[in-house]
Amino acid sequence: MEKIRLDKYLADMGQGTRSEVKKWIRKGAVSVNGETVKSPEYKVNCPSDQVSIQGRQVQYEKFEYYMLNKPAGTVSAREDSKEPTVLDLIRSKKRKDLFPVGRLDKDTEGLLLITNDGALAHDLLSPKKHVDKTYFVQLLKELKEEEKEQLEKGVDIGDEKPTLPAEVIFSEKKDQVYITIREGRFHQIKRMFHAVDNQVVYLKRVSMGSLKLDEKLLPGDYRVLTKEEIEGLREHA
Ligand code: URA
Repeated sequence: MEKIRLDKYLADMGQGTRSEVKKWIRKGAVSVNGETVKSPEYKVNCPSDQVSIQGRQVQYEKFEYYMLNKPAGTVSAREDSKEPTVLDLIRSKKRKDLFPVGRLDKDTEGLLLITNDGALAHDLLSPKKHVDKTYFVQLLKELKEEEKEQLEKGVDIGDEKPTLPAEVIFSEKKDQVYITIREGRFHQIKRMFHAVDNQVVYLKRVSMGSLKLDEKLLPGDYRVLTKEEIEGLREHA
């Protein structure tokens, strides 16, 4: 069982800043297992103790996991002084230590996992684990069969090494493809198509490892991951 200071417990769960929640506690607004506790340093047994503010129960969550359909125009960062970030879109977040797992370019849409589970994020992003990422790509012009084969074998994108083998599947038209890569280099998809003399005009990530973008989510929408989705990611990573 984990023990957490009462003021940290409440601040972690988005109930206010550390000093705000300390005031609530000292005023007698907070109870643990039905008994008023006025000391912010009181150690809560997590998850068995029941903590309430003015009779409203506050459940502790060590980790939060959200699937976001990132809209174009947002940056994949925790904070930015000029641009809206992907974290600004997660309105129901409790924890302040959430971050996006990996980056999508500002103009890229699609699947982004947002969590504070550092170990899972590390595994999903580790170059050694080769977690599959699939993107839908709208190209400027049709992709030829031999260019598709080149991309599948690996192309020189100006780095030390060519890209690892990828999988490319045509969508309905020859200028629309699904591509699966197992790396995460900077602007990788755009650079790969540039290497075969084409250009990405629209890019959307549709899956990462076992996690698939929920088609019901419009750009800018998000939802909490299911237990099965979290387990699936852990197994995959
Ligand atoms: N590759 C890119 O070029 N951009 C992204 O956002 C993701 C992969």
